[in-house]
Amino acid sequence: MAKRDFLAVTDLSRDDVVRLFDLAHRMKTGAYRETPLAGKTLAMIFAKSSTRTRVSFEVGMYQLGGQALFLSSRDIQIGRGEPIPDTARVLSRYVNGIMIRTFDHGEVEQLARHATVPVINGLTDLSHPCQVLADLLTVQEALGGWEGKRVAWVGDGNNMANSWIEAAQVLGFELWLACPEGYEPNRGIFDRAKQAGACIEVTEVPEEAVEGAHVVNTDVWASMGQEGEAESRRNAFRGYTVDVDLMRLAHPTAIFLHCLPAHRGEEVATEVIEGPQSRVWDEAENRLHVQKALLATLLG
Ligand code: CP
Ligand code: NVA
Repeated sequence: MAKRDFLAVTDLSRDDVVRLFDLAHRMKTGAYRETPLAGKTLAMIFAKSSTRTRVSFEVGMYQLGGQALFLSSRDIQIGRGEPIPDTARVLSRYVNGIMIRTFDHGEVEQLARHATVPVINGLTDLSHPCQVLADLLTVQEALGGWEGKRVAWVGDGNNMANSWIEAAQVLGFELWLACPEGYEPNRGIFDRAKQAGACIEVTEVPEEAVEGAHVVNTDVWASMGQEGEAESRRNAFRGYTVDVDLMRLAHPTAIFLHCLPAHRGEEVATEVIEGPQSRVWDEAENRLHVQKALLATLLG
């Protein structure tokens, strides 16, 4: 059987997501106690910092009977210029799967092309599909599903926004993105989703995106690698803070999501992230359950 990678939400069908979430739910409740990854190893390459991704993948592998190797790209030979195709072929001789977090999405695609074991995208500048799976599981738990729901994205059209667009394409919910001019999501991902019939709108007006939304979502204004632009981005994103006034425009049962880490007082007000509508801690926890389901499916 051909190996399966997970580089984008669109690598999954709607049925795949339903099956994955059913397994994640059984793992979360303790109904599933198997160890299908006994004797198996996941290599985790990190070219950027991480708390949630690193810990949830490592703990997840352990709970499924396997183990994970943390490989900082600074310490392995990739950092000294060893080609990705060589790294892919060598690691494939030792391990059963590779998770990678890096800058250039093309590197992840190259790794996947040359590896003979499944490759998982643990965040690139382009997308963050594992996080959006955890977000969707949180939506399912809090709101009973995503069917007929309206999701709002407020802020940078970044990796998270791009993965939300792909999720709207696969699952069919309504997605509104409010982004300042020049900070829109990836054009290719947006056009592909629209061509596939996805219900997605981009506006520059946060109030328009949030009006009646069941899920209000944001992320930092300067992502990893953009630290030098922090000041200019703070100016560009003025007016895009998710605060109590903005949340009032959402549906009364709306939840607030943020992939974390968060910058209180910038993209989100403390009252919102710490408030009753916030589900950010469930969202962070769900990284573990959904990734365990993904690992058991791809590596099991
Ligand atoms: N949300 C997320 O991916 O967090 P980390 O950067 O801590 O992994
Ligand atoms: N957009 C953020 C997400 C962090 C999990 C970043 O890329 O830094």
